[in-house]
Amino acid sequence: MNLKLNVVPFVSVDNMMKLVLTIGVERFLLELAECIEADFRRWESFDKTPRVASHSREGVIELMPTSDGEVYGFKYVNGHPKNTREGRQTVTAFGVLADVATGYPVLLTEMTILTALRTAATSAVAAKHLAPKGARAMAIIGNGAQAEFQALAFKALLGIDTLRLYDIDRSASAKCVRNLAGLGFSITVCNSIEGAMEGVQIVTTVTADKQNATILTDNMVGSGLHINAVGGDCPGKTELHADILKRSDIFVEYPPQTRIEGEIQQLPPDYPVNELWRVIAGHEPGRTGDRQITLFDSVGFAIEDFSALRYVKRQIEQTGLSDELDLLADPDEPRDLFGMLLRAAATPNAA
Ligand SMILES: NC(=O)c1ccc[n+]([C@@H]2O[C@H](COP(=O)([O-])OP(=O)(O)OC[C@H]3O[C@@H](n4cnc5c(N)ncnc54)[C@H](O)[C@@H]3O)[C@@H](O)[C@H]2O)c1
Repeated sequence: MNLKLNVVPFVSVDNMMKLVLTIGVERFLLELAECIEADFRRWESFDKTPRVASHSREGVIELMPTSDGEVYGFKYVNGHPKNTREGRQTVTAFGVLADVATGYPVLLTEMTILTALRTAATSAVAAKHLAPKGARAMAIIGNGAQAEFQALAFKALLGIDTLRLYDIDRSASAKCVRNLAGLGFSITVCNSIEGAMEGVQIVTTVTADKQNATILTDNMVGSGLHINAVGGDCPGKTELHADILKRSDIFVEYPPQTRIEGEIQQLPPDYPVNELWRVIAGHEPGRTGDRQITLFDSVGFAIEDFSALRYVKRQIEQTGLSDELDLLADPDEPRDLFGMLLRAAATPNAA
């Protein structure tokens, strides 16, 4: 039993970086992918709801809750594509795990780095089931904060070793090349999206723009391709031309959320889609043919964050890479909350 009932383990950005580097980025991605797959296999045991989004002209702030009946988790996350122009991240996040039996939080952690890792791990899990067998080459369109994580997850889970990069801002691609140097990739920076798509079996679109963008048009997508569409994740914020969707077999996380936020917001609300968890659980096939175009319409779902929080909690218990946060009021007599306040006034320097 935890004798310090007021204390909640807190993982700062600094400790998250230490944790990821101690474990190793690729091993972290592999182990996280295993947790995500395990939770997707028990999909039906979770509470599920589309995330709660608060939209503004410049971006969105979202809350993403779920519970498996024993543990509750949520993530706070934003999406503000204009932020990078002011030196801020497009996406930042933090998250909480709590004990359902008591309602007490058991973990508070940064999730900006963790979101990049879990998004990449989920993409690679989907691609394991959907991408053509033996795929080695991937195009990455949009070379911002998420890009290297995507590259490394696809290397760790699928053996992708050839990258073709494109970004409207060439300095973003140059940053990726620098960061991925020596990590086992052959990398080409391309002058156009068409150029980036040459000879690849997988394309990841991970751009940030608060509009219905057309990153991929129908003529760019040849048969047999797997599309990992990550950047379209809000109403009015998509990356693919609708004609591509009609030629693809579409796989999604949680349909009620993806129909609001994903590429499929461009399609009628009853358009048939496949649920990724059913593929992972073995209820339905993933890729079934060489010429099939598969699309993972990723928006990011609460269960992936729950898996990531669970994984981090286990890791900090082993490594001690967390701080003690004095988060919960803990009077000696539980009903004497006011008395605790009075005693603190009487002894202002008491801890
Ligand atoms: N699906 C998910 O689970 C998930 C999770 C995290 C982030 N996202 C989304 O992924 C996207 C990328 O996030 P990030 O943190 O890397 O953002 P970022 O701002 O760091 O990077 C985005 C990059 O896209 C580039 N870009 C914008 N428009 C482009 C275009 N037309 N063609 C090519 N490149 C273009 C920008 O120059 C920038 O380098 C965002 O839209 C974010 O909301 C989705």
